Amino acid sequence: MSKTEVGDSATLKEDLNEHEQHYFTSYDHYGIHEEMLQDTVRTLSYRNAIVQNKDLFKDKVVLDVGCGTGILSMFAAKNGAKHVIGVDMSSIIEMAREIVELNGFSDKITLLRGKLEDVVLPYPKVDIIISEWMGYFLLYESMMDTVLWARDRYLVEGGLIFPDKCSIHLAGIEDSQYKNEKLNYWQNVYGFDYSPFIPLVKKEPLVDTVQHSAVNTTRVKLIEFDLNTITVADLAFKAKFKLQAKNQDFINGLISWFDIEFPAAKGKKPVTFSTGAHAPYTHWKQTVFYLEDDLECEKDEVLEGEIVCNPNKANNRDLDIKIEYEFKAQGLDANQRSRKNQNFYLMH
Ligand SMILES: C[S@@+](CC[C@H](N)C(=O)[O-])C[C@H]1O[C@@H](n2cnc3c(N)ncnc32)[C@H](O)[C@@H]1O
Repeated sequence: MSKTEVGDSATLKEDLNEHEQHYFTSYDHYGIHEEMLQDTVRTLSYRNAIVQNKDLFKDKVVLDVGCGTGILSMFAAKNGAKHVIGVDMSSIIEMAREIVELNGFSDKITLLRGKLEDVVLPYPKVDIIISEWMGYFLLYESMMDTVLWARDRYLVEGGLIFPDKCSIHLAGIEDSQYKNEKLNYWQNVYGFDYSPFIPLVKKEPLVDTVQHSAVNTTRVKLIEFDLNTITVADLAFKAKFKLQAKNQDFINGLISWFDIEFPAAKGKKPVTFSTGAHAPYTHWKQTVFYLEDDLECEKDEVLEGEIVCNPNKANNRDLDIKIEYEFKAQGLDANQRSRKNQNFYLMH
C-alpha cells in the first residue's frame, strides 16, 4: 500500500478556520497520542469492549471516527471486522499508515485523511462506528458532533456505536488550600499587584486530579446521553443539581467527571469506565469549578443549583458553562452562612 501524501487529504487545512486548524494541529504531534495510548483505563476499555463482543464485530464494516494512530482500527480488525475505515484530519494518520502496514493490517484497514465530514468512504454504509471522542468535562472539543454526523450519514439501521452511553456527574469538594493558593498568588507577584488576573482564573475550570477524600457531598448524575438517539442540539444542556453535605466542612467548588458505557451482546455485561475521583486515574482527570463563595456547611445541609452548558459562539469546541447555586444553611447562624450566587466559566 502506498503512503498517502499530505496533499491527499480530503480537506485542505488552509480552508479551515483558525480554531479548526489549531484543533487538528494539536493532534499532529505524537505526544498527545502517547498520552492517550498510555491511558490504560481508556485504551483497554475499548479493547475489552471489542474483544468481549467479537461476535458483534465478526464480518462487519467498521468506521473509526478520528483514528489517530490507528489503535482502535487495529483492535477491530484483529477481532473479526471484515473491513475497517479509519479517518483522521491530523497528520498523525501518516504514522497510522506505517503502523497498520507494519502490523499486517493493510488489506483490512483503509485510512483516509481529511475531516470525516469531507471524505468519501469506500462503503456506502457501515455496521459499527467506533470512536474515542471524549474531551474534558466530556463535551470539550465538541467531537461528539462528528460522531453523530457519521451516525446519521453512514450507520446502517440497527448499527452499533462504541461507546454509546455516557453521563456527566457532579459533587462538592473541600479544596480551600489549593483554591486560595491559585487565587492569592496574583495578589503579589514579585511585589506587584497582579489582581486583574483573578477574574480570569476564576472563569477557568481546572482540569486536575482530585483526591477522592476531598469530595464531601453526595454526588449527582447531571445528564446522560444515548448516542443512538441524541442530536447535536441535545449537547447544549441545562441540569438542576442537589447535593447534600456529608460532614461539617467547607464546600469551595464542584467536581465533575464522566462515565462511559459500551454496547454488549445479549447476556454480556457491558464494559464501562469512570473518570471520577473514586476511580483509577485517566488522562481526563476531573474538572473542578471553584465557586465564588466558600460555603460553610453542616452535615446534611443542601446545596442546590443549575448548570447550563453551551458551545461557545466564537469557537464551538470551547464550552460556556454557567453555574447558579443556592446554599440554604440551617440553624441559628443560617443567615450568615447561606449564599446564593452564580459563576460563569469558559473551557478553552
Ligand atoms: C481523542 S483522539 C483519538 C485517537 C485514536 N482514535 C485513539 O483512540 O487513540 C481524536 C482524533 O480524532 C480526530 N478528529 C477529530 N475530529 C475529526 C473530524 N471531524 N474528522 C477527522 N478527524 C477528526 C483528531 O484529529 C484526533 O486524532
